[in-house]
Amino acid sequence: MGDIEDHIDVYERKEEIKNLKRERVNRDSDIFKVRDEVFDQSTRLTLFKLMNNGYIESLNGEIATGKEANVFYGKDGDGKEIAVKIYRIATSNFNKMYSYLVGDPRFYYTKKDKRSTVFAWAKREFKNLKIASEVINVPKPILTRNNVLIMEFLGKNMKAYPTLKDNKSKDPEKDFNLIIENVDKLYKAGLIHADLSEYNILMGKKMYFIDFAQGTIKDSIMAQDFLKRDIENIGRYFSNYIEVPEVNETLKRILNE
Ligand SMILES: Nc1ncnc2c1ncn2[C@@H]1O[C@H](COP(=O)(O)OP(=O)(O)OP(=O)(O)O)[C@@H](O)[C@H]1O
Ligand SMILES: [Mg+2]
Repeated sequence: MGDIEDHIDVYERKEEIKNLKRERVNRDSDIFKVRDEVFDQSTRLTLFKLMNNGYIESLNGEIATGKEANVFYGKDGDGKEIAVKIYRIATSNFNKMYSYLVGDPRFYYTKKDKRSTVFAWAKREFKNLKIASEVINVPKPILTRNNVLIMEFLGKNMKAYPTLKDNKSKDPEKDFNLIIENVDKLYKAGLIHADLSEYNILMGKKMYFIDFAQGTIKDSIMAQDFLKRDIENIGRYFSNYIEVPEVNETLKRILNE
């Protein structure tokens, strides 16, 4: 006996847990209330599902606000630190994003509307991180759903490691060579970062490349231009500290090896 009651009991427990979680989402994330452009209805729902599945346990401080995304510090169900990057659906510059996307054969068929574009953008960063994580140091990608990307947190005491821009290189010669080596390794793995600069490199115990949403595969229309631009950006930054080789020389070396 009591089968039905047990059933109802379990059901009620489940509902109770759901409600508790729902409350926690709201409580933990006071940010939700003031940040409607980041946490629109559909993003809240996505986060809520990720919380119910244990991918996100808590979402605390905001680490950064970028052009297209906001990055938050959080923890997963096992208490592991995570970085949660949320691409804004409302305020995104979606026409530009779209034109960048469709030059990449992997995303040629992306539908031309805001949501599809932003979701594809998050997916592209995820896919790129997967490829990159095989050959260089990047935040390990964990999961992407809709406009939310979860990855390994790179930092200490809930603070992200400084960027190369904020934490000048102590050994510019060595770091420059390491960066070019990373660009080379990525290219050999078929990928070009395409937005590489002192802003998208984090300096922890190791050096990490981040922000891979613009990353394109070798077969993209603009692949070589992007590769050249990455090398130029890095060269420009390091030329303040050391003598850097000619861009074309480095480019040729990477292309012909
Ligand atoms: N995995 C991570 N761990 C810790 N901090 C991170 C991580 N990813 C990003 N950050 C923090 O968030 C900042 C912005 O991240 P990122 O460069 O990926 O996005 P963005 O520049 O806002 O992107 P965009 O401007 O292209 O939308 C970084 O400089 C860093 O401080
Ligand atoms: Mg960036």
